[in-house]
This record gives sequence, C-alpha cells and structure tokens, in this order.
Amino acid sequence: MTATGATRVSLELGDIQSGVLHERPSPYVGTYLLLRVDDPAAGRELVRRLYPVVDSGRSTLDPAGNAWITVAFTYQGLKALGVPQGSLESFAPEFRQGMAARAAGLGDVDESSPAHWEKPLGTSEVHVALAVLSRDAAGVQAVLEGARHAHQELPGVEAIWRQDCYQLPTGRTSFGFKDGIGQPAVEGSGVPGSNPRERPIKAGEFIFGYPDETGSLPPMPTPDVLGRNGTYVVFRKLHTRVAAYRRYLRERASSREEAELLGAKMVGRWPSGAPLALAPDKDASDLGADPKRNNDFGYRDDLHGFKCPAGAHARRANPRDALDHEMSVNVRLHRMIRRGTSYGPMLPDGVLDDDGADRGIVFVFVGAHLKRQFEFVKTQWLNNGIFIGASAEKDPLVGPNDSSGMFTIPQRPIRRRLQNLPPFVITRGGEYCFVPGLRALRWLADRNT
Ligand code: HEM
Repeated sequence: MTATGATRVSLELGDIQSGVLHERPSPYVGTYLLLRVDDPAAGRELVRRLYPVVDSGRSTLDPAGNAWITVAFTYQGLKALGVPQGSLESFAPEFRQGMAARAAGLGDVDESSPAHWEKPLGTSEVHVALAVLSRDAAGVQAVLEGARHAHQELPGVEAIWRQDCYQLPTGRTSFGFKDGIGQPAVEGSGVPGSNPRERPIKAGEFIFGYPDETGSLPPMPTPDVLGRNGTYVVFRKLHTRVAAYRRYLRERASSREEAELLGAKMVGRWPSGAPLALAPDKDASDLGADPKRNNDFGYRDDLHGFKCPAGAHARRANPRDALDHEMSVNVRLHRMIRRGTSYGPMLPDGVLDDDGADRGIVFVFVGAHLKRQFEFVKTQWLNNGIFIGASAEKDPLVGPNDSSGMFTIPQRPIRRRLQNLPPFVITRGGEYCFVPGLRALRWLADRNT
C-alpha cells in the first residue's frame, strides 16, 4: 500500500498499445482508417504486417517517437479473422451486437439513426480500425506508409473509409471550447492525474487483466492471451452544427459576453478550458491553460449549480463529488478515458450562417466496461435528467434534443430556463472496437485455422 492507501499495481505497459494510455499530442494531426477483411488468412497476414508498426504504452511520459498507430477490431472483424466461436462469445454482449444495434437506446435516432450514417459505418463491413496520431503531418505520413504497406497488395483486405483529423488553429474544438481536459488518472500507468481530488482509478476499469473499482477482475475475453492488456474503444463521428449553436445563443443574449456565458453554462467550462466551478463569472485563460489548476475542483460547494449548472455537459459527464451523498451513485464506476479529435474546417469566428461544411469531433472512449462506462454515461447522464432532478432535460450541447429541449441555469433571484433546444450534434456513425495487447496481436496473427 502507498501512503495514500492506494495499492500499487504493476501494469504491463510494454504490452498495452500506445493509444490507450498516451495523451494525444497538442497540436496533433491524425487519420482513422477502416478496413474490411474478406479472407481470414489475409486478415491474419495484415495483423502480422501491422505488428512491427504498433508501439506499446511503455513510455507514457515520453511518447515513443513522434507518431503512433492503434489497431482495433470490431466483433465482425474478429469473426473475419477466424477467431474461434468460444472466444467470440466471451466478449461483452454490447460489443458483439455493435453500436448500430444499440443506436436507439443510445439516443441515435432521427437524423442520427444508423439509416442516415455515413457508409460503411455501422455495417458488417467494418472489421479493422486503425488510428494514427502524431504531432505533425510528416509523422502521420510515415506511420501511414507502414500501414499502407501492410494492407496494400494484400488481396482479401480492402481499405473502406478514411477520416483525417487535426487540431484546429485555435487549439479548440469546433464549438470553440478546449477539450480533452478532464481525464481520470489510471493507477499504475505512470501518467500523473490532473485532478488531485480524484484518487487514481483502478487499472481494471480501463485495461483487462487487473482488478477494477469493485475489487474484482472484470470479465475478460478468452483465451487469456487475447484478453489481457486489451480494452474496448468506442469511436463516434459526431457532426457539430456550429452556426446553429452560435445563432441559438445570440438570439437569447443581449451581448456577445452574455452569449459566451450561456455557452459556458452549457459546457461547464469556458472556451479557454477554465472551469465554471473555479471561474464562475468570466473566462480566465491563464487558469484554462494551467494543467495543474484547470481540473483541480469538485462541485460540493455548488450543489445547487449557481456556478456550474448540474445540467452542464461536463458536469453531467463527470459529476465528481456532487452525487455521492445524495444518491450513493459511485461516480468512479462511470469514468472514461477520452481520446477525441477534431475533423473538418473551422467555422470562422463570428459567422452565423451554415457554410455546409462537415465538421465535428471523432469522439473516442477507452474503457473496459462498454455498458457501465460509455453506455451508462450516454444514456443515464447525458440523455436523461432524472439523476439531477430534471427529467425533462437532456445534455444541452450533445444530447439528442428535438427542438423542444430545455436547460435550466440556476441563478438568483430566479433561475433562467433556455427553451426549444435543437440538436447541435448529429451522429454520423461509429463502432465498438476491441484494442488487443501486443501479445494478443501476435496471437491473432499466428493462429492457424
Ligand atoms: C460533439 C460532441 C461533444 C463535444 C463537443 C464535447 C465537448 C466537451 C467539452 C468542451 C468538455 C470540457 C473540457 C474537458 O473536460 O475536456 C467535455 C468534457 C467531457 N465530455 Fe464531452 N463532448 C462531446 C461528446 C461527449 C460524449 C458523447 C461523452 C460521453 C459519452 C462525453 C464525455 C465527456 C467527459 C467524460 C468529459 C470530462 C468531464 C470531466 O471530467 O469534468 N462527451 N466535453
């Protein structure tokens, strides 16, 4: 035991893929590639060729090299590689069903429903997902070259989708906010946490083969060599309606400052990243830019949400210490690592008309529990307001609102209520994937069926 009571865990960092525990660089450029495997032997050859390009999470503080690739498989992908039935059945039911089959429950309805998804997302054709991230375009190119080498001239493997991503010149996402700040510290990862009020989360919440927050080993895919040091990843291409969002705020505010305040209330942070909990009245860019301070807060002294509304996006997604004594919900069971990136051009500052461009976020979740982490947060906290006593309200920024959405901003003497919230985020598609450890990649490559 350490002085703080935490048990020391020895994570096999050399066997965990880089993308799982590495923070993404800033600035960054990257590419997501999806592949279809038509022949199991070719699929295994692909994994064999990719293996040397994949790096491990060994040096999380000093990311190995300048660029890294993450290799992940959908359930259909594992099937396409010829993974035995018994092993396939050992994966979580949500993973086996895939995101498209879970869409209605996740709130992916109407324009966000799989019927409207960008093809081939959500179809049984998506087998292998590759994500390449680097500080610069040259780094991405170099790794992509290696990946291209792996799948080109390999009959039986087809590249079927590509999405490039990059950090916008502002360093923020399309709605204008800094993102990727609130992350859990993972016990044994060596990556220092950003919120000193949150004890590091047990490694088993994020990586298979280690105890989780319940004190037990989470169900791990079998055989052991396949499951150990692997994890699940969710990726979702989320289109953001930036002009509609700006107009919505403008129409409800008498000044630019007021519009900015309403936007911050919706997010729970200011554009700079400064949390409302620490800077309730105006943005504080030095606070937003300071990793030692910008995540050092709780909501205990703001239970009524006068500083940060309980319905704000970041507070819903991680209510921190706001729930425990009221509802005995263990927030630690619903944490997630996020590795999202931006895609598409920036809508220039001040523009209120839609230019028709596709822009948004490739949201990426990493965790060992698809159901109680990603799906729980999405369905119970973002898409539903019961837990904060506002059953008619959904997340004002990312929730599946239908132009009748509401958002309450507690203030004195009387609260303010924003009405008629339209959807600002549309799901363009996504997948549930499994990211194996490095030994597991070898196992997948070397099996003979
Ligand atoms: C286009 C869609 C989305 C946008 C624009 C967005 C934006 C943001 C922003 C600006 C923050 C605050 C900065 C930070 O702490 O990193 C944030 C935090 C967060 N978001 Fe999202 N988000 C989106 C979708 C989602 C989804 C779908 C989930 C989960 C299912 C999610 C989970 C979280 C979590 C866990 C946090 C950190 C909260 C904390 O620890 O304080 N986000 N998001």
